[in-house]
Amino acid sequence: MADSPTPLSSPLASPAPLPGSTQPPSTETGLTTSQAPFIEQARSHGQLYIHQPYELYSESNHEAWRRLFSRMVPRWQRYANDHFLAGIDALCLDPDRVPALKNVNRFLAPLTGFQAKAVSGYVPAFLFFDCLRNREFPTTITIRSADRLDYLPEPDIFHDIAGHVPMHTDKHFAETLVRFGECAHTAAEMAAGIRDEHARAQRLTSIIHAMARFFWFTVEFGLMRARDGSIRAYGSGLLSSYAELEYACASPDVQRFPIQLEWAINQSFEINHFQPLLFVIESFDHLYGLVDELESWMREGRLNNVAPGEPAVNEADLESFLEQSLRHG
Ligand SMILES: [Fe+2]
Repeated sequence: MADSPTPLSSPLASPAPLPGSTQPPSTETGLTTSQAPFIEQARSHGQLYIHQPYELYSESNHEAWRRLFSRMVPRWQRYANDHFLAGIDALCLDPDRVPALKNVNRFLAPLTGFQAKAVSGYVPAFLFFDCLRNREFPTTITIRSADRLDYLPEPDIFHDIAGHVPMHTDKHFAETLVRFGECAHTAAEMAAGIRDEHARAQRLTSIIHAMARFFWFTVEFGLMRARDGSIRAYGSGLLSSYAELEYACASPDVQRFPIQLEWAINQSFEINHFQPLLFVIESFDHLYGLVDELESWMREGRLNNVAPGEPAVNEADLESFLEQSLRHG
C-alpha cells in the first residue's frame, strides 16, 4: 500500500511482562512494522494498551526515524500549517531517535491535556473516539522499515507522532478531537433507543460511515487556508507523507474545495493511492463548528442513510459501537 494510513488508526497497548515468558523478545527486528515479536505477543494476549519497550528499538529503527524526519523538515516548512510547525517546536522531538512517548507527553500534556498512549494495533472505532474524548491518543509504537520509507502497510510511530501529535498541542484542534469523541457517545446513546437489533446495526453503520469519512477528510487529510491565502495541510496523513504532502498542496491534479459537511459525509475515498479530492477549512474554529454540526445532524437523523461505498465499515468498528449502546440500553 502506498503511504496513506487508514483513517481510524491506532489501538491497543502495553503488555506487562507476559506470564510464563522467560525469554525477552528478540531485538533483531526491533520494533519494525509487521515484524515485531513484542507486538505479536501483545496481540496474541489480547493486549491493546501496552507500554513502549524503548530498549527494543534497533539502530535501523532509529535510522528510519532520522531519514523520515530529515526529509520532511523542508516540506513541513513549505506546506504545513502554522499550528503544526509550532507543535513540532513545542514537542522538542529528537530528529535522530525514535521518540519515547513519555518524553513527548511531558511537553504535550501541559499544553492541552492530551497524551500519546501506546497501542499494539488497530483500535476499534468507538474505543478510538472514546480515547480522544479522554484526551488520549492511541499511538502505534512500531516504525516502518528503513529500506522502504514510502511503504506503509499500517500506521506507524512516524505517522502518529510526527503527523498527528504536533496538532494536539493546539488548543482549538484538541477541543475538536474531544468533540469527535463526544459524537461517538451520542451515536451509541441514540442507538440504545432502537429496539430492533437489525435496525440498530444499520443505523450505527451509517453513522460510523459518516464519522469515518468526516474524520478522514479533516483530521487525516485536511487542508486549511493560510492567512496569506495559500493552502496548507493539517491532516496527519499528509503531514507524514513526503510525496503526498507536496502533491496535495501543489499539484494541479488535485481537486480542492471548501469543505461542506453534506459532501464530506457522503464522499467515498480509497486509501491505497494519493487522494484526488481534498477539502479546505478556514480555521480550527471552523472545524470545531463542523463537528458540532455533525452531532446535530446525527440527532436530527441526517446521518441515518449516507451514501454507500468506500470505506466499508468493518465488523470490529460496528461491534464496538453496539457494545457501548448496550451499556446505555
Ligand atoms: Fe492517522
